[in-house]
Amino acid sequence: MSKHAMKTLTCLLTAAVIGLGIAGHAAAAAPAAPGQTLAQRGAYLARVGDCVACHSAPGKPAFAGGLPIDSGLGVLYSTNITPDKEHGIGKYTEQQFADAVRKGVRADGTHLYPAMPYTSYAKVSDEDIKALYAYFQTGVQASAYAPPESKMGFPFNQRWGMVFWNFFFADNKPFKPQPGWSPQVRNGAYLVEGLGHCSTCHTPRGFAINEKASNSGEAKFLAGGELNGWPVPSLRGLPRWDLAAIVDYLQTGRNKNSAVAGEMTAVVQHSTSQMTTADLNDIAAYLKALPPAPAREAAVKPQGREATVKKLSAAVDLTLGERLYLDNCSACHFVTGKGATRVFPELDGASVVNAENPTALLHVMLAGARTPSTDKAPSVLVMPGFGKRLSDGEAAALASFLRQGWGNTAAAVSEKDVAKVRARIDAK
Ligand code: HEC
Ligand code: HEC
Ligand code: HEC
Repeated sequence: MSKHAMKTLTCLLTAAVIGLGIAGHAAAAAPAAPGQTLAQRGAYLARVGDCVACHSAPGKPAFAGGLPIDSGLGVLYSTNITPDKEHGIGKYTEQQFADAVRKGVRADGTHLYPAMPYTSYAKVSDEDIKALYAYFQTGVQASAYAPPESKMGFPFNQRWGMVFWNFFFADNKPFKPQPGWSPQVRNGAYLVEGLGHCSTCHTPRGFAINEKASNSGEAKFLAGGELNGWPVPSLRGLPRWDLAAIVDYLQTGRNKNSAVAGEMTAVVQHSTSQMTTADLNDIAAYLKALPPAPAREAAVKPQGREATVKKLSAAVDLTLGERLYLDNCSACHFVTGKGATRVFPELDGASVVNAENPTALLHVMLAGARTPSTDKAPSVLVMPGFGKRLSDGEAAALASFLRQGWGNTAAAVSEKDVAKVRARIDAK
């Protein structure tokens, strides 16, 4: 295969890492507590790893696989990882299971596509692999469901190609704590770098869609990325949030100034909301300990908080964007852009409003968003979609106002940007 073909191959295969259409079922909860069995510990770790998100398809038993993942060049189906001996992983030994999860190598020696996040799971400890194995062999209901065969076209169906990808890009190294980390930060790093596989979405990707960094020592690690065109914020230092705000967001999908949207909604629902508060505290401590990515240069000078509030309150000589905001949005997000704590998120300073790429902002404005229902915050907050009410030109004017009102400093949005996002929403 030529070098170019190889490059394309790896691109397309790894595009699947950022799996589309994450669906799943909440698995029976067993808290991580002293005195729990190995399989109970494994059940907890499976939630940290969010195995259910990819290994369950709507209407099928949990972990029986069959979720289609569109890699762009063929559809990949997640596999059955229940203990069924024929269709699942019932015949896997612990070593074979460890190799599949940490190295992406199946029992028959063939290679998995990195849609399975084994490059992160490489950091999982032997002890935790043991617990996961116990859970998947004894705690999960066996299912004889046979997921459809993956339909990758030639040459992308040649699994041996992954050997090269692994050689160049996969950093299959065990977890390595940095000197000076407290036990708390160390545990947070272990969870984020490994089972949590947060970097699959939060680390920028290179030409082969390989993550540009694979551990906390690298400045690009968790520095923000893009997922199907949706901007994914940096997790380094999280300067806007204190420890409690981070824990709150991961536990409930909302905090004093923000609410979750996009693919992070499912991550909160199936994984982080089910982690123990102790583990979430450690994750928050670790994220706060990462030196923040250098702030992006402001695209424009902010209008200023006071100036924006004054203009909206006086309601004279408004621009189109300002008028649309007053008419459609200020009832919930207020003229201050500060919303209401834990109910209506802030638009002043929000990552989604200030992201260089306006896709997520436009998506939320046009299609709306809803927070997940979690144990600690069962009520669902709903942002209505305004796609029917706003023309492309109006949505562009409104989004441009949001991105430059108050203290926000992002570039204006064009009608074309809106049309693109609207076409994507309509295609769904
Ligand atoms: C982001 C999606 C995703 C997540 C999360 C995920 N997997 Fe996978 N996994 C896949 C896909 C897709 C495949 C099949 C890849 C292929 O066909 O090459 C797979 C394959 C596997 C296999 C190989 C089974 C076989 O013989 O075919 C095992 C074992 C496995 N996953 C275990 C796990 C465990 C355990 C977790 C949680 C700790 C997990 N996976 C989380 C997507 C995922
Ligand atoms: C499937 C992709 C995906 C994975 C995996 C993922 N995230 Fe996210 N995350 C996102 C997206 C997309 C957003 C932006 C949400 C929005 O626009 O409202 C986000 C937002 C966040 C935010 C809010 C940051 C801000 O400035 O608003 C935090 C905190 C966060 N994620 C933490 C985590 C942690 C911790 C993990 C691992 C346990 C993780 N994420 C795994 C996709 C992901
Ligand atoms: C009925 C109340 C209501 C109205 C009206 C409303 N919103 Fe929202 N908005 C919400 C809620 C609740 C959320 C949180 C939902 C979520 O993120 O899952 C939200 C979320 C958002 C977000 C995402 C914030 C984040 O941190 O991720 C943006 C951006 C946004 N709204 C903009 C607007 C704009 C622009 C308008 C006017 C066109 C508007 N909203 C009108 C209630 C409202």
